[in-house]
Amino acid sequence: MIIKILEKLRYISPSLPYKYLQLTNNTIRNEERFTEFWWRMIQEGRMSLTIREAFNIYYYLTKSLPLGGSIAEVGVYKGGGAKLISEFKSDLTLHLFDTFEGMPEVNSAVDLHLKGDFSDTTLESVQRYLKSYSNIHFHKGIFPNSSKDLPKNIQFCFVHLDVDIYESTLSGLNFFYPRLKEGGVIISHDYNSISCPGVKKAYDEFFVDKNEDVFFLWDTQCMIRKR
Ligand SMILES: C[S@@+](CC[C@H](N)C(=O)[O-])C[C@H]1O[C@@H](n2cnc3c(N)ncnc32)[C@H](O)[C@@H]1O
Repeated sequence: MIIKILEKLRYISPSLPYKYLQLTNNTIRNEERFTEFWWRMIQEGRMSLTIREAFNIYYYLTKSLPLGGSIAEVGVYKGGGAKLISEFKSDLTLHLFDTFEGMPEVNSAVDLHLKGDFSDTTLESVQRYLKSYSNIHFHKGIFPNSSKDLPKNIQFCFVHLDVDIYESTLSGLNFFYPRLKEGGVIISHDYNSISCPGVKKAYDEFFVDKNEDVFFLWDTQCMIRKR
């Protein structure tokens, strides 16, 4: 309901809905392709990222496209982030990894999520949701086992990790970092979320002996760019 009112208000007084979203940043407002898409996304109700987080993905994804190679998201759930990437990925191939049955085993010494969280989704519903986009491959199962069918020499220009837990984040970094093109970007959700302490732990451990710095992005993300 509130979204419908905001959508109408946007044509009468453009700044009001943005104020509601705490969005005073003109960089985002001036990206019309992005903001049009954002309004559609929130009406569809599958977006779990904030507008700033979605914008970070849009911005660094579109900057990475000229590198070529593939794109990946690990942690798809109902497909909100996957739709954002699909909309702006041009014709590059997108690989989507999820159990589509909820969280796998967690490490209760580090993680606050429980096995089975996010189980209210299915592969088929996400496939239907993204059916208008091409060059998308779905890999159902526990990552990194579910990556076994990828070509051995595959390289990535952009990766979105959104897995919330320690082991899956570490697996994602172990798999994608060596396959990331020079200049390629990995963005991770929840690096600074109090509900996902395992994400930061995995990043801090993995990058301790790497050349790249881990940069914090609003609202909860982090980003690395391969040297
Ligand atoms: C927060 S949700 C992802 C949200 C999604 N990116 C979006 O835009 O709405 C986290 C997802 O990570 C998945 N996940 C976590 N660890 C995984 C692993 N090792 N293999 C496959 N899926 C995993 C869970 O099944 C869950 O769907």
